[in-house]
Amino acid sequence: MLEVKSLSVSYGAVAALMNVSVHVAEGEFVSLIGSNGAGKTTLLNSIMNIIGHSKGTVTFKGKEITKLNTPKIVKGGMAIVPEGRRIFSNMTVKENLEMGGFTRPAHEVKEKLEQMYDMFPVLGERHDQTAGMLSGGEQQMLAIGRALMTSPKMLLMDEPSMGLAPLVIKEVYEKLKLLASTGLTILLVEQNATMALKYAQRGYVLENGRIILQGKASELLGDNEVKRAYLGKEYKEKWER
Ligand SMILES: Nc1ncnc2c1ncn2[C@@H]1O[C@H](COP(=O)(O)OP(=O)(O)OP(=O)(O)O)[C@@H](O)[C@H]1O
Ligand SMILES: [Mg+2]
Repeated sequence: MLEVKSLSVSYGAVAALMNVSVHVAEGEFVSLIGSNGAGKTTLLNSIMNIIGHSKGTVTFKGKEITKLNTPKIVKGGMAIVPEGRRIFSNMTVKENLEMGGFTRPAHEVKEKLEQMYDMFPVLGERHDQTAGMLSGGEQQMLAIGRALMTSPKMLLMDEPSMGLAPLVIKEVYEKLKLLASTGLTILLVEQNATMALKYAQRGYVLENGRIILQGKASELLGDNEVKRAYLGKEYKEKWER
């Protein structure tokens, strides 16, 4: 479904991604983990051509999209839930969802709205409220709902667990799992390696702009190097005291 080949991106003289290759098969849930500044957001933004890339190719559904502009990529069936959610706080929940569907005809938007309210009941209950009034978890659901308004085949998720309590993080991931089970292809990037790998089938580890490890998510979760570097404090407290 998605194939990123030898992608390199720099910000001026600073190289953020070097020769990154990632692939996601249709229906797959793939997580890419990496610490602060590894280049995760850069990868997703450059797949969507929100920022340009200096080298490499991106192929989606068998078609090269390397030079396609973002609206065309969205039209082609890809959507992104950006880092920090970026919901429109002063607009209502309903208006936020409508913004997500702005490229679609009105009757379709109406239909999608109902689908989103079924999928996320809390959004239906609060459709008339200002989005800024929602809790962090509800805002994340709204950001996901907004991305789904274009009926994407593939969803790029940037740091869904950011700033959320563990129970809420679980709720978000359960929702993603449900979406994946309906056939949605997911590429997720996270610092929160435990959750990201628990829910994915395959994973990648990005460090300083390079892929240093990849494999089955369950194997990465068990990998000592991954544990030490990414599963954090808990592991260190248990094993490295
Ligand atoms: N607009 C920018 N201009 C210059 N440098 C940038 C810009 N955005 C990111 N960078 C740099 O590129 C590198 C990768 O950043 P990126 O935001 O992709 O990392 P990340 O893995 O998403 O980090 P985080 O987990 O904190 O979200 C970092 O060194 C960062 O400082
Ligand atoms: Mg980021």
